[in-house]
Amino acid sequence: MIDRYIQFLGIDDTVQLLEANEKPLIPSIRTNTLKISASELKRRLEKKGNELEPIEWIPYGFEVKKTSINLGSSHEFLQGYYYLQNVASMLSAIILDPKPDDVVLDMCAAPGSKSTHLAQLMGNKGRLVLIDKNRNRIPALEVNLRRMGVLNSIILNMDAINLSDLNIKSNKILLDAPCTGEGLIRQDPSRKKSRMVKELEKMSSIQRKLLKAGLNTLDSRGKLLYCTCSIAPEENELVVNDVLNQVKNFEIVEIPRNYGMKGLTEVFGVSMLDSLKFSQRLYPHLHDTIGFYFCLIKNIN
Ligand SMILES: C[S@@+](CC[C@H](N)C(=O)[O-])C[C@H]1O[C@@H](n2cnc3c(N)ncnc32)[C@H](O)[C@@H]1O
Repeated sequence: MIDRYIQFLGIDDTVQLLEANEKPLIPSIRTNTLKISASELKRRLEKKGNELEPIEWIPYGFEVKKTSINLGSSHEFLQGYYYLQNVASMLSAIILDPKPDDVVLDMCAAPGSKSTHLAQLMGNKGRLVLIDKNRNRIPALEVNLRRMGVLNSIILNMDAINLSDLNIKSNKILLDAPCTGEGLIRQDPSRKKSRMVKELEKMSSIQRKLLKAGLNTLDSRGKLLYCTCSIAPEENELVVNDVLNQVKNFEIVEIPRNYGMKGLTEVFGVSMLDSLKFSQRLYPHLHDTIGFYFCLIKNIN
């Protein structure tokens, strides 16, 4: 696995990445503006001895620099005033930018970190269709939707590869694809040893099928955000490159803000679409987040 990092990052960045993976993440929270304002939540949590620092990119997000409570069971958490979420993960809904009158599809929704954020940005209006294949993960999704007061969603327990069976079109689709979670080592150190190259191959085949299904369901001029919590090119640029070379009428669009590094256009000796430079990568050693990848794709038909 490390040999691959050296190939696309070089030796110095690989060493820095591995070192950063050993450091714990600063916890971060997203205010649920459906229930409380960011300033009121800050006031309430600071009164309890927590130290919150605003996140530059997210006006209602905070890094928790010091805490005196269990952030996953506080009164404010249980009331649904905030969601514990890494900054990189918060960016997904912001980049997709759903509006209150949109029909939004979240193809791999459980346990709902990004779904609850999408609902928040839609002001609990429009329609939010949440899909997940794994029945065991649906209860956690339901609990989070209820806790956060989401009212505009329906849950479908199905394989999103069969999305066309639903016979619907959507103008905003989030594909937070199942992945090896290579970028999550800071959250879960066991992934350092449990992730194998073979698994990358298996995941990338599923990711290709999901991406094709998502693009087929995208309305004219609609946008799909492909993202993973992995920095593996096999699960990111190589997937998007392959699929976009097979379908017509889709193009990668520039994400309005620079959050991370440009996507790769060449890797492991393969030249890929030049527009992949518009996709973005977040690295633990450069951005102090989990490892993450985003690519925004538009139906230009
Ligand atoms: C990265 S997790 C999603 C995390 C979620 N978006 C969030 O932010 O909380 C990937 C999810 O994809 C689901 N999944 C895997 N294969 C799927 C498929 N073929 N169709 C739909 N969901 C799938 C898994 O059950 C898992 O819940």
